[in-house]
Amino acid sequence: MAKPIQIAIDGPAAAGKSTIAKIVAEKLGYIYIDTGAMYRAITLKAINQGIDLSSNEEAGALLLETAIDLQPSTNGQLVFLDRKNVTEEIRTQVVTQAVSQMSAHGLVRERMVELQQQLAEGRGVVMDGRDIGTHVLPNAPLKIFMSASVEERAARRFKENKTRGIETPLHELQAEIAKRDKMDSERDVAPLKKAEDAIFLDTTTLTIQEAASEILKLAEERLS
Ligand code: DC
Repeated sequence: MAKPIQIAIDGPAAAGKSTIAKIVAEKLGYIYIDTGAMYRAITLKAINQGIDLSSNEEAGALLLETAIDLQPSTNGQLVFLDRKNVTEEIRTQVVTQAVSQMSAHGLVRERMVELQQQLAEGRGVVMDGRDIGTHVLPNAPLKIFMSASVEERAARRFKENKTRGIETPLHELQAEIAKRDKMDSERDVAPLKKAEDAIFLDTTTLTIQEAASEILKLAEERLS
């Protein structure tokens, strides 16, 4: 069997990264790591503890005394914050609106990148986020930069929210996604950016299966 590879998938919010990454990981028998969930978990803790979200030092210190664990399950990846299952809680609007601020801090990113590199070391992995191809796994043999129009991304999030009983209006989702795109792309430390050697995949008009097949085809090429 070919030696497993690392696959980095980056791109803006709601581009379909996690859904597609999960399918790819399952097909290849690799582990899937959702790095956004890790930033969301520390953001949840900061909110609960009333930490100053604008302080790099406070945010960094908090992460040093925090355990974030990811566990695969038949219902997707479970996220544990200090041993408590927070898989659902990290998806609330309060966390979504604060996560870009928290994840802009250098101290937070430094520690997260270390954790993510440890999780990926020596294994077949599909990891998604914003800086995977540029910082976390710069030597990954397959890097994808996935995007879609803001309108399409908001429409997808709207549908997904509905199935979970969340009723945020479409125009609000569009504004929130556009704001997050801006903050994630313009921050000083490791901004959202396509790695030079990443392959651009526009999913606006692709189905989930089509996008996953495209990545699997590229992965087969790297594996052979
Ligand atoms: O993938 P997501 O929407 O769940 O990510 C939540 C936020 O976390 C996103 O707005 C930016 C941040 N993030 C990051 O800065 N770096 C990553 N590798 C992953 C996520």
